[in-house]
Amino acid sequence: MAQSLISVLSLWLVVFLGCIGLLECSQPTLPAIYVFGDSTVDVGTNQYLPKAEARADHPFYGIDFPHSVATGRFSNGLNIVDYLAKFLGFELSPPPFLSLLDKKEGIYGKIILLSKGVNFASGGSGILDETGKRKWGNVVALGDQVQQFARVHDIISKLQGEGGLANISKSFFLISVGSNDIFEHFLTNQSTSAKHFIATLMSTYESRLRNLIDLGAKRFGIISVPPVGCVPLVLNSTQDGSCSKPMNQYAILFYKALQGVLLKLSAECQEMKYALADAYTMTTLIIKDPKQFGFEEATKACCGKGNFNAEPCTPESDLCKDRDVYLFWDQYHPTQAASHLAAQTLHAGGGFVAPMTFGQLASLA
Ligand SMILES: *[C@@H]1O[C@H](CO)[C@@H](O)[C@H](O)[C@H]1NC(C)=O
Ligand SMILES: *[C@@H]1O[C@H](CO)[C@@H](O)[C@H](O)[C@H]1NC(C)=O
Ligand SMILES: *[C@@H]1O[C@H](CO)[C@@H](O)[C@H](O)[C@H]1NC(C)=O
Repeated sequence: MAQSLISVLSLWLVVFLGCIGLLECSQPTLPAIYVFGDSTVDVGTNQYLPKAEARADHPFYGIDFPHSVATGRFSNGLNIVDYLAKFLGFELSPPPFLSLLDKKEGIYGKIILLSKGVNFASGGSGILDETGKRKWGNVVALGDQVQQFARVHDIISKLQGEGGLANISKSFFLISVGSNDIFEHFLTNQSTSAKHFIATLMSTYESRLRNLIDLGAKRFGIISVPPVGCVPLVLNSTQDGSCSKPMNQYAILFYKALQGVLLKLSAECQEMKYALADAYTMTTLIIKDPKQFGFEEATKACCGKGNFNAEPCTPESDLCKDRDVYLFWDQYHPTQAASHLAAQTLHAGGGFVAPMTFGQLASLA
């Protein structure tokens, strides 16, 4: 399994290099990508959000981004959605919805011009409406992100008619959410049982997916929750610096339950297709044997201070020397190198995405 990750990576490199200069490789087969979720796929939403405290708009965020700018991505450089967009044939990862609202030309023209997609993801947010708000001041919850997409849908319908709506049904809906709901559940020491809590998350998640399906979405690339009990912040809080087993148990339950929801929805709606990524198993393999995947450090954050560098990443933080050999960039998030590996695995396969890869989902007729 592990070796296939590596061989898939080199295969991708060959395909990519082979494409340079060939026009057909740079043309998207998909009309657009719409992105929903939390900081794992946020490309700057929170910078446009008043009172949002989950922000990555300062050094050392973005140190490996072109021109070393902090764009609001919770990474030293690109994140997983940037790489997926590239692999799916797009030149750029879609812009934050809130950045389009700000433009003088108005939201309408701009969105249509950039109709290769929109990113609604907001760092700190979760499936539940209240998740993240206490800790981070302001976030855009998944339900509000879906409402924002409904506005985009109306604009496309008005300006592009049937053709625009047909394009929505062929577009890729990428969703990565759930970690913050679990973090907050543990932070606030809820007494609800794991089973009951996951069921609550799933009923809300299912209803958001139904809203999107009602708005014409048909192709869903969904990333499940990674091992939240193994991020540097949590390692610093356990007695012996090991992963929190209870938190990871929630991540495992989350994946199983989400699998059930997606099976049910796709049985009900024949045209709905999905690819579900098991971020838990994929990341756990790397944590168990980092060297096999080209990493040297899978516990300590690259940017931070204190034990495990678990304090927030700021301009005063300690910074690791070789960012490419760290799994974690900051107290919660993966490095650009880890995002790259994850994106190519989800796109091309390797056993962590089912019933098809993101690449196969994108190229369905
Ligand atoms: C639909 O998407 C294709 C690209 O896949 C684009 O060429 C076409 O103009 C779009 N149609 C409308 C009505 O926007
Ligand atoms: C959390 O809850 C448990 C029992 O439900 C209790 O023993 C513990 O003291 C609580 N911890 C905090 C920090 O409130
Ligand atoms: C890390 O753990 C130490 C010891 O429990 C604690 O004092 C510190 O606040 C923790 N750091 C973070 C960022 O939570």
